[in-house]
Amino acid sequence: MQTIRVIAELRQTIAQWRQRGQSVALVPTMGALHEGHLALVRAAQTSAERIVVSIFVNPGQFGPNEDFSTYPRREADDAALLAAQGVDLLWAPDVATIYPAGHATRISIAGLDNMMCGAARPGHFEGVATIVAKLFNQVQPDVALFGEKDWQQLAIIRRMARDLDFALTITGVPIVREADGLAMSSRNAYLLASQRQAATALPMAMQAAVTAIAQGGDIATILADTKAAILSAGFDAIDYCDLRDGDSLKAMTTARAGARLFVAARIGNTRLIDNIPIP
Ligand code: PAF
Repeated sequence: MQTIRVIAELRQTIAQWRQRGQSVALVPTMGALHEGHLALVRAAQTSAERIVVSIFVNPGQFGPNEDFSTYPRREADDAALLAAQGVDLLWAPDVATIYPAGHATRISIAGLDNMMCGAARPGHFEGVATIVAKLFNQVQPDVALFGEKDWQQLAIIRRMARDLDFALTITGVPIVREADGLAMSSRNAYLLASQRQAATALPMAMQAAVTAIAQGGDIATILADTKAAILSAGFDAIDYCDLRDGDSLKAMTTARAGARLFVAARIGNTRLIDNIPIP
């Protein structure tokens, strides 16, 4: 596996693959890789001949009081995992390469980027959309893969790619969970042992809610019970616990096709998100 940090070299390598008629998949990441990322790589390997993984901890998507400086960075370990998985190229630019002096462009996706996680993290999804658009332009992949755990991010990226006419397929890959049901996330590493134990309540309460919704229960009551169950398990706050349409992300008061349950909850300084479809 090659590691490349310079845009001209990236373009040259990809141009050589293109001359040979090879297709290219991109898996964008911020590193601190776990099994969820490797599931993205494996899905990529079924859809293209050459696999590029990017690792870039994007300052543009962190708020002033968020964890940019402490976000886990372990590129050497990540590179070893990716090489063992058969990835062709690690694209690992530095901040000055991505945001040279004078960089001023931000992409916003009106109506989608300022609600749910966007309400708690102002500017976060503008930062995500901007870096993802840049990565698409740098790598020019045929397909790009994103985890469904960050469902709002996936919906925003799909809309951005459609609106800006990016000629690629966006593929969502199902959530990979720990044995006790907690969705895998690089931020799970922040949890103290007691918080990690309490965190299991999040997917458990959500799964109970999904079952109750599928059985036709009253949505408002189920959402209130779900919040109460999560808080009584040791979470400190709930940013949202909503039934929403998976495409438009609009709130639903009755479950229809495409509905998903979305929760964002805080335990200590860690914010966990999850979503589950209503069958
Ligand atoms: O999901 C992530 O890891 C990041 O938001 C992404 C898509 C790599 C953009 O920085």
